Amino acid sequence: MSSSREGICPSNRQPTMYPAKDIHVLVLAHPVQGHINPMLQFSKRLASKGLKVTFLIPISTKKSLNLVNASSIQVEYISDGFDNVEADKLSTKEYLEHFRLSVSQSLSDFIQKHQSCQENPAKVLIYDSFDSWALDVAIEHGMQGASFFTQSCVVSCIYYLVHQGTVKLPLDAVDGQGRVLCDPPVMSVLGLNDFPSFVADVHKYPGVLDIVLGQFSNFRKAKWLLFNTFTELEEELVNWMGNQWSMMTVGPTIPSVYMDKRLEDDTGYGLSLFKPEVEACLRWLDSKPPCSTVYVSFGSLASLGEDQMEELASGLRSMKSHFLWVVRESEEKKLPRNFLQELGLDDDKKGLVVRWSNQLQVLSHVSVGCFMTHCGWNSTLEALSLGVPMVVMPQWTDQPTNATFIVEVWKVGLRVRANERGVVTGEEIESCVNEIMEGGERGKEIRENSLGWKELAKRAIDEGGSSEKNIQEFVSNVLDLCT
Ligand code: UDX
Repeated sequence: MSSSREGICPSNRQPTMYPAKDIHVLVLAHPVQGHINPMLQFSKRLASKGLKVTFLIPISTKKSLNLVNASSIQVEYISDGFDNVEADKLSTKEYLEHFRLSVSQSLSDFIQKHQSCQENPAKVLIYDSFDSWALDVAIEHGMQGASFFTQSCVVSCIYYLVHQGTVKLPLDAVDGQGRVLCDPPVMSVLGLNDFPSFVADVHKYPGVLDIVLGQFSNFRKAKWLLFNTFTELEEELVNWMGNQWSMMTVGPTIPSVYMDKRLEDDTGYGLSLFKPEVEACLRWLDSKPPCSTVYVSFGSLASLGEDQMEELASGLRSMKSHFLWVVRESEEKKLPRNFLQELGLDDDKKGLVVRWSNQLQVLSHVSVGCFMTHCGWNSTLEALSLGVPMVVMPQWTDQPTNATFIVEVWKVGLRVRANERGVVTGEEIESCVNEIMEGGERGKEIRENSLGWKELAKRAIDEGGSSEKNIQEFVSNVLDLCT
């Protein structure tokens, strides 16, 4: 039960020899795919540096997870309290409150048991910033907390400014050009409709608004604030936030095989709430020429209206490129009648529709030339890190803000615009995709910029990179606390 800690080398210090004992940390994930993935990857990085990680997922026993590969860490399930409760019958607010109460209790029970039976119990809990109450549970048990922000700095910064009252709700423009925020200066690219939907439309999601603002309710009591981004990507915001409090960028949290290749066996996220159709996607993509296919996905939660599905289907059907479209099982009924039959059966057909993909495998495939995305933060980081240009069609939450940064700041994508009925037409989709796939002037520039960001993302997480140094520093802080 011993392991030497040589090799753990804090960024600005001499290598330290730590006593040979297991240093343990607990990680509490928020049980949606876009939040599990980044925390899981961060956990694997910690494990690769010698920490023992127990990854806790609050989930009902009746739900199933596809555990593919996360062997370097230990995964434990704790109750989310929904085994005997009909979640569908609760309002969002009731659902979130029930989740908070149940998981506070099951986390507390887990920690108590862990502390009583481990020789060296964990002294640090890393928790999703959406679940800020987890910090109170950690403190009650004498632990330190690290708040892990799964969304971009720009989005977190907006929630911080709203929470502290600098930005008032409902939002209002501060100048004749529709700007809401001018400091930090990069914020001035955001118009009223580019703000996260929870603050842009305060009455629509009251329960969720409490959660996103709640990230800043007790954050000063957390010992560390970790962000899934990289300094070079959001430099101005990282500097601005870094001047107000101490924070660390630790992203992009993408499996090592796609980035620095330094973590053995880290070939995928490893924990999925959906079952990916791996073989079907690969067979399809393998049969297509390089840069000939558009990958279309709206993540794990977004739900398009029937009109929008129809327009999207029509745009995909009429564009020149092939497509691979993820339509989750719950969305399938909105596909236009006969759409799947009309696509045909063999590999010559125009497009493939699957219920879930291994997105990283798809994005890194040579035949994929463009990603039509809802701009979830993970999808955004994945496209940036793999150098895939985007056509952006944000739906809700942080996505409108991410979309604006993709197009206006990082310049790696084009945005489709909705018509007066709020629907993006098939022609609009086709035109933006063609611009990128056919390498028009803007398309070429976007592809070049994408390759530039790919390089910077890889560098950030590689030996000596900005995020890698921060992860080293975090590990060294944990070791100092525990030894
Ligand atoms: C949610 C929010 O919608 C998002 O805006 C927020 O930033 C995080 O939480 P989600 O909508 O699922 O997440 O989007 P995203 O953040 O992109 O995460 C989806 C994850 O699922 C990605 O890591 C992606 O690689 C993966 N995925 C998606 C698949 O593996 N296969 C798929 O078919 C689709």
